[in-house]
Formats: sequence, C-alpha cells, structure tokens
Amino acid sequence: MQYPQRFSALPEYAFPRLRTLLAPFPAGGDLVAMSIGEPQHRFPDFIPQIIAENADGFNVYPPNNGAPELRAAIARWLETRFGLTKINEDTEVFPLNGTREGLFNACLALSPETKNGQKPAILMPNPFYQCYMVAARAVGADPIYVNAEKSNDFLPDFHALPTETLDRTTIVYMCSPSNPQGAVASAEYWKNLLALAQKHDFRVFADECYSEIYREAPPAGILAAVQETGVDPERVLAFHSLSKRSNLPGLRSGFVAGGPKSIAELLQLRGYTGAPLPLPLQKAAAAAWADETHVIENRTLYQKKFSLADRILGNVPEYRSPQAGFFLWLKAENGEIAALKLWQNSGVKVLPGAYLSHDTPNGNPGHEYIRVALVADFPDLERGLTAIRDYLLSEQNG
Ligand SMILES: Cc1ncc(COP(=O)(O)O)c(C=O)c1O
Repeated sequence: MQYPQRFSALPEYAFPRLRTLLAPFPAGGDLVAMSIGEPQHRFPDFIPQIIAENADGFNVYPPNNGAPELRAAIARWLETRFGLTKINEDTEVFPLNGTREGLFNACLALSPETKNGQKPAILMPNPFYQCYMVAARAVGADPIYVNAEKSNDFLPDFHALPTETLDRTTIVYMCSPSNPQGAVASAEYWKNLLALAQKHDFRVFADECYSEIYREAPPAGILAAVQETGVDPERVLAFHSLSKRSNLPGLRSGFVAGGPKSIAELLQLRGYTGAPLPLPLQKAAAAAWADETHVIENRTLYQKKFSLADRILGNVPEYRSPQAGFFLWLKAENGEIAALKLWQNSGVKVLPGAYLSHDTPNGNPGHEYIRVALVADFPDLERGLTAIRDYLLSEQNG
C-alpha cells in the first residue's frame, strides 16, 4: 500500500522527541515540568457552571459560524482591547476550535495553487509553532524559515528576503508575542509587514494567542495596523485564543478575525470539514471573552513569575527577560545537552530550542537555546530556575 510523502519526512514532534532523549536516564530529582507550555493557573470559576446550565446544547449540532452571542463577545473584545472601530460580528469574526485549527485550515482555504506561475512560498519565523510548517506542506507550498534571533531582536526580517521569494509568497505566518522568545512586534513592525504584503501581494496570518500575557505595555495587534494604514483587510487574519488568556487550553476555544471575503472562504471549507465547538462550550467562551478580571489576575501571576526569573537568572550572561508570553529562551552551549544535563542533575524538564527550529543556510537559530515554560507553581519554579542558573553558570565556568 502506498503512503503519501507529504508528511512522512516530518521530524518527530517536539515532545515525543524530548521523551526519547530523556527516557534512558533517570531524573536527578523530583520532576519540575518546564517543557510544555500548558497553563496551570486556575480558569475562571464561572466556566463549569455555564457549561452545566447550557448542557441541553449538547443535543444539537453547533452552527458552523458559532453562536451569535459568542461572535458578539469576540467582536466587542477586539474593539476594546485594540481600540478598533466597529468589527462586524456576522462577517469579520468566527469562533474556532482553538487557534491551531484555524492556523492550519486558513492555509488550506487561502493559499492559491500557484503564484505568478510558480510554486507558492509560505514564510514563517524560525523557531516557530510547528503547525505553520505542516500547513505549508499540506498545500504543496515551500515553507521558508526566516530566522528570528538576537541580531534582529528575535523578530524575523521578511524584508531581507530575495524579491524572487517574496513574489511567490502567498502567506506569511507571524507570531507576536512570539513563542518561544516572547518578542513583541510593534505597531511599526506590523505596518511595515503590511506594506510588504501590499507590494508583493501576499496575506499575513498573525498568531496573537499570547497577546494578553505581557509584562508592561499591551502588545500591538495587526488589526489596528490594518485600520490605521487602510490596507485591504482581506490581506490579514488575526488568531486569538482562550488557552493562554483564560487558562482554558482544554476548552479548545479561539477565534479568527479578518476581511469578510477571507472569513467567508474559511467558513465554506469549514462547513465541509470543520468541528465547531459544542454550544455549551461556546456559551462559556462568550462569558470568558466578556470578563477581564480573571485575565488581569492571570497576567499578574505571570508577572510575578517573570520577576522571580529575573531575580534568579539576572546574573547569567546573555539572560534576556522577555516582553510577553510565558517562556524563557535561554542561551546554552548546546540546547539538547543542556536539557539532558538538567534532567539528569535535577529532574528539571526543559525543551531543546532546536526542537522548535529548522536548519537554514544561515544556521539553526534554536540550536544553542533551551525553552523554559514558566507554568509551574512558585516553589517548583524557584527550584527549577535555580537548577537552570547553576547549570548555565557551570557551563560558563568551563
Ligand atoms: C504560538 C502558538 N500558536 C498557537 C497555539 C495553539 O493554541 P490553541 O490551539 O490552544 O489556541 C499555541 C499553543 O501552544 C502556540 O504556542
């Protein structure tokens, strides 16, 4: 029997790969889980009650474009959070089953088969959320990895690509705040990227799922840049999620917002293949988007975690305190060796940076890094960060 080649050469997914790396060795202490970015803070108390009160909704197939009250809650949240003028909740947004679903399917719905007579290119930051690369492969495009590293403040410079590549680009994935580095695209960055998109006629998919976990200033969003520049809104989709904002990764609730024609194309594909969120969960999601109190509490907790990290790691050479998100992206001599040693010495589990990045002619920007998720509770976090500091300093001292 034949198997398709499209996905067979994919590298093993990051977490099984980490398990394979660590499995032969016993942990050198009680486990401190810092590898997976799974939020551990409490979700809002009202969520289970709303699901229970609306349990009758499990009796019906949920509508493809989502419950009107959820669409309205999302549109009002976008307007308030990003200072946008009216968002049409019927044509410019719809709820997703987590942003991951939308990030993948939007590529299927909107990347043309060819561009200017050539094979399409889909650009993405490097390191990157792995879904972008698989989406590009699924539509037969060339994924192009654009390094986001210290020299460019961890924001990919798409402008530096050859014109030949930009002219066959159909989609640019951009993540801000970024996973793993926690770098934030300024309004200026978004506007420059939109100008490039106009010039070379491509779309921008903005993955903004970490937008609410920030340290000081709220990150700028791409939709505000669209309204300020007057760029064709069909060029842009923005993706948001309750997974990080509201500590609800298991609710599988996010949304996409953008130009009405693009949204209609997505809905058309989703009508055939999608799995809309069950209605009781949509009701709970609507309440979560309408409430900011829990979001402020959540952010405050992460800010305390970052302060702890600054205090413990501040003296480590090249330590960089991220602007947003909940990861540290820490320089080591070799990320894989560092992850293994931390496990063997102290039971601390972190992810080698190279498991999130790709080799390029300009090197692999994840190779000398580890990604550390600040999701554990404070005692574990303190123990984990201290072990990481000791390890990184021991590397420095030979
Ligand atoms: C950068 C990035 N984008 C998207 C997602 C998907 O999140 P969800 O599908 O839970 O909204 C994640 C999850 O970890 C992520 O890190």
